[in-house]
Amino acid sequence: MKKNPPDTPARIIDVSWDDFLALPIEEKSRLVTKRDGLPFHTLFAQQFDREALDALCELASEIRTIAKGRAGMDFLQSLLSHKRAMLYFSQPSSRTFLSFLSACQILGLRTGSVRDAATSSEFKGESHEDSIRTFSSYFDLLIMRSPEKGLAEKMAWRLSNSSRPVPIINAGSGPDQHPTQALLDIYTLQRSFERRGGLRNRTVVFVGDLKRGRTVRSLSNLLLNYEGIRQVFVAPDALQIGEDILEMLRAHGVEYRVGSDLRAELPRADAVYMTRIQDEWDTTKGESARIDTSRFKIGPEEMKLLPPTGVLLHPLPRRDEISTAVDDDPRAVYWRQMRNGMWIRAALIAATFGLKTTVDEFYRRNV
Ligand code: CP
Repeated sequence: MKKNPPDTPARIIDVSWDDFLALPIEEKSRLVTKRDGLPFHTLFAQQFDREALDALCELASEIRTIAKGRAGMDFLQSLLSHKRAMLYFSQPSSRTFLSFLSACQILGLRTGSVRDAATSSEFKGESHEDSIRTFSSYFDLLIMRSPEKGLAEKMAWRLSNSSRPVPIINAGSGPDQHPTQALLDIYTLQRSFERRGGLRNRTVVFVGDLKRGRTVRSLSNLLLNYEGIRQVFVAPDALQIGEDILEMLRAHGVEYRVGSDLRAELPRADAVYMTRIQDEWDTTKGESARIDTSRFKIGPEEMKLLPPTGVLLHPLPRRDEISTAVDDDPRAVYWRQMRNGMWIRAALIAATFGLKTTVDEFYRRNV
């Protein structure tokens, strides 16, 4: 797992904000990762290596199993009953908010929330920094979603340099990162293939708005940790994946294809990751509506092209890119994927507070 090597600052408090901002993401990741290789702050997909991903997936499955019985649930709810979490979501969310809330409830954390900056003192002109410091005065964990790229990172640095250095979990920041969505996507892929040779030597096809979809960017990053994963990007030209992601894939020697023919890719896919058009990021009125997206949708006819062993994922919410007629197809795993988010987020919170060994031991003794 990633450790702080002797030639980098051991802790985030040893670097100024400007120096921190200028660091490569791998070094920033080291500064927000604990010595056990699991996150203190969760900010970037890049901070998870294979060992950390395996540890979190294992922990999620243990928590899932332990939670099935009353004694197990009582144990889980005792773990963090002395802690409080703040959910600060200044961008709309159903799944991420509710799965984090449920994850907190599973672990006994009490919660508070702000879901609209207009209801906080930011409306009166308070800065993000002061808001975050206010939250950290009352809470022991801050889970935040923001439309502002890099805000979670800046706030993590700010809190680490305050008298209340509470952990921050990035629940989606701007169009850039959604690391916990990528964790649940990996957990879903891992579970989908665990009895069929595991998550290796697979073709993952990303479809839709790949340019502005932060979930795709974060998952593409995490897939680097798995051997022989081919990545295929299928989108209209105007919404195609960014050159920075392709550069990352080239640097890691990952096989990839960029194209626009979904029907040609489906028979070769092990996993298809659909996304909706992210028109909330349009810079001109009606920009997305002018793009022809009709060839980037999946219905019963397209499902006939997907192999019987293939799986269909979607971070949700969806619009019309997956027909509801597909929902009962056993290869459509997006509802399971959504529920997996609750378990992996519970695992992440438990790991953030250093509880992996405690859960492992309970699991070994009782399950
Ligand atoms: N996948 C996802 O982030 O969904 P929400 O926007 O509903 O949280």
